[in-house]
Amino acid sequence: MEVIHTVAELRAALKGRQVACVPTMGNLHEGHLQLVRLARQEAECTVATIFVNRLQFAPHEDFDRYPRTLEADCEKLRQEGVDFVFAPSEREMYPEPQEYLVVPPPACADILEGQFRPGFFRGVATVVLKLFNIVQPEVAVFGKKDYQQLLIVRNMVRQLNLPIRIVAGETARAADGLALSSRNGYLSTEERARAILLYQVLQDVAAAITTGNRDYAALEQAAMERLRAEGWLPDYVAVRKQADLQSPAAADRELVVLAAAKLGTTRLIDNLEVAVP
Ligand code: PAJ
Repeated sequence: MEVIHTVAELRAALKGRQVACVPTMGNLHEGHLQLVRLARQEAECTVATIFVNRLQFAPHEDFDRYPRTLEADCEKLRQEGVDFVFAPSEREMYPEPQEYLVVPPPACADILEGQFRPGFFRGVATVVLKLFNIVQPEVAVFGKKDYQQLLIVRNMVRQLNLPIRIVAGETARAADGLALSSRNGYLSTEERARAILLYQVLQDVAAAITTGNRDYAALEQAAMERLRAEGWLPDYVAVRKQADLQSPAAADRELVVLAAAKLGTTRLIDNLEVAVP
């Protein structure tokens, strides 16, 4: 495995190769590694990228304290059989102010995460397009953990005719159900024990839908109340269509329940797909 820090060296190393790419911000956990395993099945050459993208963090967010663990990450990737790690510096990715931006449409980028993190998906879409242009993969793998991000990347690839196939990986969870996330490391021991509630709330909403409850607004409200009662600060619990994350009509069957909530100072997100019977 080779760790590469510059665009020029990466381009030279990848010339003529068929690549599957896994973009990450590092601090890798089992969820990331599952995506790497999917990528390895898709192409002869696997590239993982590690870059904490300032453009997708608001000034008050955790860009400065986001965990940077390049050495440990590279060791994990080596054990998974990754061929190349692309870990550019900020200067390499943004040698000048990034004035050309990918602005995803408000209908999918200003709702849910985008409502509470304005500009987030502009930062994500811009860096993902840059990484795609740098790596030029045939396949790129993203996790369902970030469901809205996956949708926005898929839509960008389709509408801009990028010759890249997007593959989705299921959400990897801890034994108690908590979705793995680099941000779980911010939780205290006491918070970590309580953090499982977010997934339990999603499971309960999904179970109610499976057993015939169609009053999605009431289910969302009750779920938010339960989180608040347990000391969380929910941003949203929302029942949406899988296809476009808009509110479902009575006939829609393929749904996803999405939630974001703060526990102490840590903001966690999760989601769960559910089929209406
Ligand atoms: P990051 O949060 O590091 O996640 C990298 C990839 O891992 C994303 O596709 C994400 O959905 C996936 N992932 C994270 N936790 C997961 C879990 N528990 N199970 C399965 N997959 C999981 O998402 C980003 O970085 C950035 O926004 C990025 C796309 C790299 C652009 O900067």
